[in-house]
Amino acid sequence: MLTALKPQPADAILKLMGMFKADPRADKIDLGVGVYKDAGGLTPVMRAVKAAEKALWETEVTKTYTGLAGEPDFHAAMAGMILGDAVPRDRVSAAATPGGTGALRQAFDLVRIAAPGRAVWVSDPTWPNHLSILNFLGLPVRTYRYFDADTRGVDFDGMMADLAGLASGDVVLLHGCCHNPTGANLTLPQWAEVAAALGRTGAVPLIDLAYQGFGDGLEADAAGARLLAQRLPEVLIAASCSKNFGIYRERTGILMAVSEAGAREVTQGMLAWLNRANYSFPPDHGARLVTMILGDPVLRADWQAELEEVRLNMLSLREQLAGELRRLAGSDRFGFIAQHRGMFSRLGATPEQVERLRTEHGIYMVGDSRLNIAGLNRDTVPVLARAVLAVGIGIRSGRREGSAGRRH
Ligand code: LMR
Repeated sequence: MLTALKPQPADAILKLMGMFKADPRADKIDLGVGVYKDAGGLTPVMRAVKAAEKALWETEVTKTYTGLAGEPDFHAAMAGMILGDAVPRDRVSAAATPGGTGALRQAFDLVRIAAPGRAVWVSDPTWPNHLSILNFLGLPVRTYRYFDADTRGVDFDGMMADLAGLASGDVVLLHGCCHNPTGANLTLPQWAEVAAALGRTGAVPLIDLAYQGFGDGLEADAAGARLLAQRLPEVLIAASCSKNFGIYRERTGILMAVSEAGAREVTQGMLAWLNRANYSFPPDHGARLVTMILGDPVLRADWQAELEEVRLNMLSLREQLAGELRRLAGSDRFGFIAQHRGMFSRLGATPEQVERLRTEHGIYMVGDSRLNIAGLNRDTVPVLARAVLAVGIGIRSGRREGSAGRRH
């Protein structure tokens, strides 16, 4: 049996991680995988997480199974953080999942069961693992235009034109904030237009919210999700605590389904059933820490303060990089870096230029020229800026970066 297996293509982001590790150059710079790093290159355990872990160690008396869909306290804490008071809680079902990716996987399974044959629409481009999982599950995938390769902003007219082709029951995967890989995001009025388009067509949004707190702040980053939840009868949200709580390896995420109140009980049962079928009980440690932090005013205030430091650090690196490139290039053509939000920006470089950055300058970014801003520090920003110009990025229009076809 096993001899019949064929090698699978490597995940581009994870492959890059391996290449970076193997590179012996001391001054190499990792702008690849989406992990926050401080100025010293460390992904720190947040203060509130450490404090919650200590308290948990002292008070936890059992490691028996949690609820099949996770703990209701975790659901309530996460619903509060993400949805605020946008919708009454009797419209919200939830299940704890292994990370945000686990939530996405469960959401896609839910779609497959609830709306067989319906397409899932993803932004062009999107996080490559969205496509890997969708293809693995055999769901029909369509793409909508999203990124304008010339302005490095959102191609909103293109997006709306494509969303006009939605059929009732189709699912539209939207990045709640901090679009991965481009860093270009919808404004609130644009979210309202998307909500109207979904309302007109009867399509259902699935919001991937992996970076809440990394863009414009905890509240602002959830504003699009809240608006959709207020205006539409059904919304799915796959959220991750990996980044905003810095608990990547604890695999902490949640799938929330906002439905009409009458559909809640069956939906909640379905989410628990999906957990049972896929991995049984979800991991608990990270979810418990998050619940403790969100439920304790002192821990919560400290966590929010540290998260805000992280966000402002990334913003200031953006400003510094855009400023450095403005100075060296004598033009504003890299101004989009300061406009983008979250960890990522797509530079608009060719694959050859990305390759030269790696081989000639020891600078690692994903092949589509996505760079992780948090991989920089004040000393490496000028190094990157000089290398970007040395390999000629931004000299050509970047058109080659554009859409690669409408279907996957
Ligand atoms: C990323 O996009 O780099 C992160 O979401 C990490 C991953 O798993 O790909």
